Amino acid sequence: MRTRICGTGSALPGREVTNDDLSRIMDTSDDWIRSRTGIGKRHLATEETLAGLAAAAARQALAEAEMKPEELDMILAATLSADKILPSLACELQRELGAVHAAAFDINAACSGFLFALQTADAYIQCGVCKNVLVVGGEILSKLMDWNDRSTCVLFGDGAGAAVVRADKEFGILGSVQGSDGTKGDALLCENRRNNNPYVKNDTALPYVSMDGQAIYKFAVRTVPKAVMEAVLKAGLAIEDIDLFLLHQANIRILEAVSRRLKAPMEKFPTNLESCGNISAGSVPVLLDYVNQKGMIQKGDKIVLAGFGAGLTWGASVLTW
Ligand code: ACO
Repeated sequence: MRTRICGTGSALPGREVTNDDLSRIMDTSDDWIRSRTGIGKRHLATEETLAGLAAAAARQALAEAEMKPEELDMILAATLSADKILPSLACELQRELGAVHAAAFDINAACSGFLFALQTADAYIQCGVCKNVLVVGGEILSKLMDWNDRSTCVLFGDGAGAAVVRADKEFGILGSVQGSDGTKGDALLCENRRNNNPYVKNDTALPYVSMDGQAIYKFAVRTVPKAVMEAVLKAGLAIEDIDLFLLHQANIRILEAVSRRLKAPMEKFPTNLESCGNISAGSVPVLLDYVNQKGMIQKGDKIVLAGFGAGLTWGASVLTW
């Protein structure tokens, strides 16, 4: 049995913020951001909640899959920026959708989150526990950014994407790899609340995301091609057999380096960095929905999905559409 993606969806907040908009509130420029990252604008949440964005994406994915929420066995939500610590985003989504038969939980693997959630869905389907799973990736990262730190806040955006997967005899996931290296976790960091109770007082300022950009760049260009290659081999395919590589949208230079290392042309690496920035766990499913809605994927195409990010973590899956 294979795990097949049979519907996708995405939702972005209404407020678009261009590089020029940012240059009016901090010392940056369209040229600096665009030339180093490929990002032209991003969507930032103002009134929107992550649960609301995720539910909008999920409804589109369910409609394309022609599946009712009650048919879902499981909801997996990949995020590091849920609206609430409790309940989880997945449980909020279950309530929003009325998916009364679904078990629901969140997965935090940062920018690899959608891949980790998809591979978890695949494992549940492979062992026969589930048939229909909703996999969502989404973030409202703007609330975790230090808007005085121009080296990080310009990179990220908000949004959510969803995929409905179901057990299928023929099409679906052919091979996957995933990995983590906790020893390098400080390269991309955001502390949680500090210990605070009657025995220890803590009134330090709220923590924000900090990043060693060059360490992340080196990690990505070394690890992603290797992971993609391993997943493609596991699938019994060669790089030339792959029609599209849908990679986490962190930075155009990373995508170009991966394309060179895999000896696969950039035309096979669609990107929405220009309009969305880096949406972490939302990045791959939002891009997947974009190429799906644009009709860029045909039935039977071989697709690579790959994520990489904080943890450090990485994951890649190869599938037949
Ligand atoms: N606008 C203008 N100048 C800036 C900005 C900005 N937004 N941010 C930093 N600078 C300045 C710095 O202060 C520095 O100035 P200085 O030389 O006077 O000290 C100069 O630009 C160069 O800074 P660097 O950090 O060395 O810039 P670099 O060329 O390394 O580019 C970047 C930074 C784009 C983040 C790069 O390291 C990179 O691509 N890293 C990959 C990491 C990444 O993509 N992370 C995304 C999140 S992680 C993930 O999704 C996996």
